[in-house]
Amino acid sequence: MANTKEKMLQVLNLKKFFGGLKAVNDVSFDVYKGETLALIGPNGAGKSTLFNTVCGVYAPTAGQILLSGQEIQGLKPHEIARRRVARTFQISHPCQDMTVLDNIIMAMGLSQYSSLTGIFGNSRTKGNIEKAEQLLDKVGILAQRDRRAGDLSLGYMRRLEIARALALEPLLILLDEPCAGLSNNAEAEFIEIINQLKAQGTTIMLVEHNMSIAMTVSDRVVVISYGEKIAEGVPQEIQSNPYVIEAYLGKDDDCA
Ligand SMILES: Nc1ncnc2c1ncn2[C@@H]1O[C@H](COP(=O)(O)OP(=O)(O)O)[C@@H](O)[C@H]1O
Ligand SMILES: [Mg+2]
Repeated sequence: MANTKEKMLQVLNLKKFFGGLKAVNDVSFDVYKGETLALIGPNGAGKSTLFNTVCGVYAPTAGQILLSGQEIQGLKPHEIARRRVARTFQISHPCQDMTVLDNIIMAMGLSQYSSLTGIFGNSRTKGNIEKAEQLLDKVGILAQRDRRAGDLSLGYMRRLEIARALALEPLLILLDEPCAGLSNNAEAEFIEIINQLKAQGTTIMLVEHNMSIAMTVSDRVVVISYGEKIAEGVPQEIQSNPYVIEAYLGKDDDCA
């Protein structure tokens, strides 16, 4: 819960245009320390573009992104990761041929070193292995530690992604539709993991198309449609906001 009003992330008048297409158009919002903020909107609203701009995949056309008050817009993805902003991917891509455990140790190394060179040389220490095991335990996949990451089910793969993100000891975790493609069971288990992270005070920004997931896990919601912010508030307010309902219904896709 956001029991302090310290701002972890500030998105200020952010714009990202692709040629004439205004994918993100003058969007502003804050993510407070310890809160889970969901960014929702119909397909094509600009959610992934905004997410990728925060992660450094895109440089913004205009606007600012501040992390703990420091400007980070336009930095490269690895520079943003080094400032302890961790992300997961809609399509998981761990190092397929490495074990689950080594994936975590490598992610821990990335927060300590500036390049891949030599990460394994001195990082498979007893302490690091124990820490990696704790992270796997946190997301419920410790029993999978020696499996090849590429052989995991989608649900376990997503959990590995979260554990890799946690290995960065992040100030902020960015999740892009973490439940997409999961079975109802795997989805419920994943929501439980997110709730545990929240309970531990993790600051989370979640991009989510599915309204019910967003409403279940978030403290606050920002809604975008056609690149513009159309609403912001607690889940209850958002659920009954006519502009939000219209944006979702107008798109004729699932808002389950
Ligand atoms: N790399 C890109 N180049 C050109 N247009 C893009 C690119 N990425 C996204 N778009 C366009 O920007 C708009 C927003 O897309 P996106 O951010 O993926 O929406 P969402 O994630 O909300 O579904 C869409 O019209 C999409 O076609
Ligand atoms: Mg998207």
